[in-house]
Amino acid sequence: MSLIAGRKTPKERLTAPDISIVIPTYNERSNIAPLVDAVSAALGDIPWEMIVVDDDSPDQTFSEVSNLARQEPRLRCLRRVGRRGLASAVIEGALVANGAVIAVMDADFQHDERILRPMFEKMMATDADIVVGTRYAEGGGIGEWDATRARMSDFATRMACMLVGNQTTDPMSGFFMVRREIFASEIYDLSQQGYKILLDIISSSHVPLKIEEVPYVFRTRQAGESKISIMVLAEFLFLIIEKLTHGLIPPRFALFSIVGGIGLGVHLAVLNSLKLFGFEFLGAQIAAIGVSMVSNFIMNNEFTYRDRRLTGLSFVAGLILFCLVCSFGALANVGVAEIAIKQVDNWSIAGLFGAIMGAVFNFSAATSLVWRRPRKRIFAPAK
Ligand code: GDD
Ligand code: MN
Repeated sequence: MSLIAGRKTPKERLTAPDISIVIPTYNERSNIAPLVDAVSAALGDIPWEMIVVDDDSPDQTFSEVSNLARQEPRLRCLRRVGRRGLASAVIEGALVANGAVIAVMDADFQHDERILRPMFEKMMATDADIVVGTRYAEGGGIGEWDATRARMSDFATRMACMLVGNQTTDPMSGFFMVRREIFASEIYDLSQQGYKILLDIISSSHVPLKIEEVPYVFRTRQAGESKISIMVLAEFLFLIIEKLTHGLIPPRFALFSIVGGIGLGVHLAVLNSLKLFGFEFLGAQIAAIGVSMVSNFIMNNEFTYRDRRLTGLSFVAGLILFCLVCSFGALANVGVAEIAIKQVDNWSIAGLFGAIMGAVFNFSAATSLVWRRPRKRIFAPAK
């Protein structure tokens, strides 16, 4: 169906929206046009706007949105360059929204847009702050998931309930509506990391929230691929850490430290293996340092800085820079430990201070030097 069909008169188009639908996208080009039609059909006479937040998708979802927006002015595109992330995309989309209510929905038709209207009506009728589209209440369902994915989701839901109690049956849902003032009041507290924006909104609230639900059955993806991975699960664990420590531990630093811990294990394993083969201590220690630096670099590249992952020549350059950074980190470690030992006269405490200093130094240097913001991506001229 064409977007032109069912178009409003210019006057109607000027109506302020009641609902702003925020859609985060990454490579969803072919889902956009049908999605706009489906949402338009589902909402009928409720005034809406749709804000697609696209992270400079290689398939140029952003240009598809801009093209369609010329015929459908309720549609807008926010193209973010050099950025990745579902939560931050949703937050930035919501910040440019004009509706009294913000709806968050995926672009791939897994969220049933036909419940947008019942969700909105329920919010108005019950005066709720949030309405969650839930898969886990009577009438809802997870659709065609394999057992592993179902177990993962079940586990994550239980963890999430530890954080927010039983305020909703589906705290991991990516499909919900929230009143704009509730969202705005939490803007400085939201984590901006990972996938779990609803969980973040609920757990960051300073006041008790009134939460209602509308059930739906999770559908299979219409086109394109899922971006969920083991990493999404890890990010979720770190959101929980961040919330439980009240923001003291940023998720990226937590990941970086865990990689460092694994690196220590690698180091000791290499050291001991070489000992078995009859190597001298110094040679074995140097080899262990080399291996653990390389393995730390690879793990950080895959996980900690996945959104800025280095490949090809930049991978090699990054590895060399990372080894340099770590050597300075070791110096910082020794320097601080040396000062600390004079103050506390306790090897373990002094050693710990040194290690923390080294980790903080390595982390800041790695973030600003090795995995800097990505550079310009070259596209073929957009149509
Ligand atoms: N802007 C932006 N940036 N959008 C992204 C990014 C990103 O880095 N990563 C994913 N998206 C968009 C996708 O294009 C899609 O519209 C939506 O976010 C969800 O991504 P999927 O890759 O389809 O995720 P999923 O289907 O595995 O997960 C969904 O279901 C979960 C429930 O099991 C999401 O809705 C989750 O929030 C939800 O918890
Ligand atoms: Mn999906």
